[in-house]
Amino acid sequence: MRHRALTRPSGPSLTRRSFLRGAASLAAVPLLPRLAMGRAPAWNSRLRLAKIGVGGMGETDLGHLAAHPGVSIAALCDIDARGKQALAGKYPDAVWFADWRELLAKLGDRVDAVCISTPDHMHAPIAMTAMRMGKHVYCQKPLGHSALENRRLAAFASAHPDVVTQMGTQRSAMIGRRHQLQLLREGAIGRFKSIHAWSDRPAGWWPQGQPRPQGSATPPEWLSWDLFLGVAPERPFLPDRYTPFKWRGTYDFGGGALGDMGCHILDYPFLAAGLGLPTAVRCDATDATDDEYPTKETIRLRYAATPQTVGPIEVVWYDGGLRPSNAALGIPDDVDIRSNAVVVVGEKGSMLCPLDPEWDKDGKQIKSDAPQAWDPSGKPMALKLYALNKRDHWHHWVDGCMGKANPEAHFAFAGLLCESLSVGAAASQFANRDLSYDAKALLFTGVPESKAILQKPYRKGWEVEGLQA
Ligand SMILES: NC(=O)c1ccc[n+]([C@@H]2O[C@H](COP(=O)([O-])OP(=O)(O)OC[C@H]3O[C@@H](n4cnc5c(N)ncnc54)[C@H](O)[C@@H]3O)[C@@H](O)[C@H]2O)c1
Repeated sequence: MRHRALTRPSGPSLTRRSFLRGAASLAAVPLLPRLAMGRAPAWNSRLRLAKIGVGGMGETDLGHLAAHPGVSIAALCDIDARGKQALAGKYPDAVWFADWRELLAKLGDRVDAVCISTPDHMHAPIAMTAMRMGKHVYCQKPLGHSALENRRLAAFASAHPDVVTQMGTQRSAMIGRRHQLQLLREGAIGRFKSIHAWSDRPAGWWPQGQPRPQGSATPPEWLSWDLFLGVAPERPFLPDRYTPFKWRGTYDFGGGALGDMGCHILDYPFLAAGLGLPTAVRCDATDATDDEYPTKETIRLRYAATPQTVGPIEVVWYDGGLRPSNAALGIPDDVDIRSNAVVVVGEKGSMLCPLDPEWDKDGKQIKSDAPQAWDPSGKPMALKLYALNKRDHWHHWVDGCMGKANPEAHFAFAGLLCESLSVGAAASQFANRDLSYDAKALLFTGVPESKAILQKPYRKGWEVEGLQA
């Protein structure tokens, strides 16, 4: 089994400059650069997994991971005690915890790997603590909440390749999406000129654009509100407001629509373009508040040229119902560009990469996730079809822990991608301004108050080794 001795490994000795060099070069290397296949000792025992966050997506993650024949569920953890009853019969050997710190401290030597499906603001604290203890980590998207967290998680994972990591972008294992990546990489539309991506979130999914809610209530006895807050600043509990699910639009807990959907939509175009860290960003929005992301926004991220781009390139993100026109994308007017998709505009044409297939109410697939492309005259382009095997994102990570596979969304890549998303999301707090991103200082140039967002501090008593600014 691929796992390190259960002593705390020393932190990475990377300087910022050497990491930035690494991050830039990472973008140019193949997707799975770190793992030498077959290097790990033969698999001879089960992977003992701790599952942190068991409601919502956590339940899906738990089901998939527990279905792998090599996994045993050693511990379950949630701040909502109702999960304990619900899962007790299903995983009788699992020890239950409300506090992940207690889980790792008490059960550290009986756990090989950790899966984190908590709200975004707790991903990095748990992931970094677990990795420093030598645990393999599967962490939901987006990887970190702040730019600093993403930078540090990527650096740690790069420096410790025996810790096997995977971000929870399960769509990256799907055949349609891997097909998109292959076509983009092999130059089907030539070098890239611009990338445009959009999502129908947050409208109708969760609240955004609201002032900080007033009032307070006593948390129910089954909920540990202080543990929910974790590293975030204190605020009073309110029923049906933050947890479950509705925390996404609040700056302290989530990443808004870009944080929620950007990883799924932008990961492969970002990788195919070989992008590094952004040099500049601008968010256009009118209703961001001091507590929540805006209801709709356009975010423009600029990057230096790479060998896969025609020159410096812009990634444009639209959400809350905003979308570019087909004409702006070089796509004929009668084409449905879908509600969550990305279009890569290249030298030879424009490629539409839908996020998902679409289904009718009877479960029949009515639209595919296969990419489509048009040349500059608007004529459909014939795209090569690759024979790709089925793959399971969760099991691929478990197989990676056993030394048998290379997880597709390992943290070295995920952290680089998610630093861009953190920068884009942060720009809504300085909306309608052109901002330069000083990647070395992790700041918007001339905007010192951006430090508190891009390198957000943790609540007193919740400091995490490896994640301090
Ligand atoms: N990959 C996907 O398709 C996908 C889909 C949905 C959500 N997600 C991601 O999964 C994560 C969870 O999202 P969700 O919609 O399930 O949220 P949710 O609020 O519905 O569920 C989160 C669960 O974690 C628990 N929790 C909260 N804080 C905790 C803590 N500190 N320790 C232990 N448990 C804690 C909650 O009680 C709840 O059971 C997010 O990062 C989200 O972005 C991914």
